[in-house]
Amino acid sequence: MYFQQGIHKFSGRNYLCFVKTDIGQDIACAISFLKQGETVAIPTETVYGLAADAMNEDAVMKIFEAKGRPTSNPLILHFPSIEAIHPYVTEFPDTLLQLATQFCPGPLTFILPKSSLVPSLITAGQETVAVRVPEHPMTLELLRSIDFPIAAPSANRYGGISPTTAQHVSSQLNERIPYILDGGACQTGLESTIIGLAEGKVIVYRLGGIPLEELSNSLGYIPEVKNDVHEGVRTSGMVKYHYATETPLHFLRKQEYKDSDGTILFSKKGTHTTSINAYFLSEDGDLNEAAKNLYAALHEMDQRHFTRIFIEEFPNIGLGKTMNDRLKRATAKFD
Ligand code: TXA
Ligand code: MG
Repeated sequence: MYFQQGIHKFSGRNYLCFVKTDIGQDIACAISFLKQGETVAIPTETVYGLAADAMNEDAVMKIFEAKGRPTSNPLILHFPSIEAIHPYVTEFPDTLLQLATQFCPGPLTFILPKSSLVPSLITAGQETVAVRVPEHPMTLELLRSIDFPIAAPSANRYGGISPTTAQHVSSQLNERIPYILDGGACQTGLESTIIGLAEGKVIVYRLGGIPLEELSNSLGYIPEVKNDVHEGVRTSGMVKYHYATETPLHFLRKQEYKDSDGTILFSKKGTHTTSINAYFLSEDGDLNEAAKNLYAALHEMDQRHFTRIFIEEFPNIGLGKTMNDRLKRATAKFD
């Protein structure tokens, strides 16, 4: 149970403050909050999402309020299957549908022309909507049990590091949301890859959990990556400073670091440091394992109050490309 403590001012608007945020594995409880127009954090294979009934604008507004996110930034709709998406879009081009058949459920989001069912608050007034089918058994069960899609951005405060455990959500949104559905640590650990179609070609708007090489293999060409700020499409993955820690974060190049600094290193194997201030993302140089651990490492190291954190750049292949992209945005704040 939660109690409404009172109405508080935030960003010029009122928001509800909850005495307590419960964490549990009760899907029925999560559904009950969603049906009451409340927000609930849900596990996905990428990162935890902050969910609300996408057809209820008051509920969707609570997502923006809890995150401190501007409403100019559109949200992704989550569905239990590809078929369930159809009423919410006017078109699902064959090229994208084929990718959907191959990769869904999974970390791939499609930008498609929206149908009149989708409220403009979801799309920030744009005529396109972002849709995906997440791959997490609890969330799929939840989605199959309701008759509305769920809007869900990552369950972090705006600009912060995306959460990959229920505890990460709690450390940022405690008392701002009534319930966190705990589905363990996210398997992929990086947000979904966002794609759309322009003049018959697939465009990648955000690098993510599906590596570019896998899309290229399936398409027979390398899709263009347009993930810098430009007109027409807005994704928060395009914001220059994003996914940032509080502690100054830099790429580990040749600089000397001190005892008061922390380091995040790719692989334990072949590394000689025994420093207690070092965090290893993978035992053996595995990019998927490193991706799964990356945000947890940033969360943990950020809490250890180092003067600075240095992180190794990844080989620019597979999920290494996605991680380098995120880190460029996270370190840009401190350049
Ligand atoms: O893996 C994920 O995608 C996670 C999980 C929870 O599903 N969600 C996520 O949501 O990363 P969020 O809101 O943090 O990032 C979604 C991105 C934003 O950058 C948003 O601007 C973009 O998707 N987006 C949403 N609708 C769009 C649209 N119609 N056109 C272009 N970009 C859009
Ligand atoms: Mg996000």
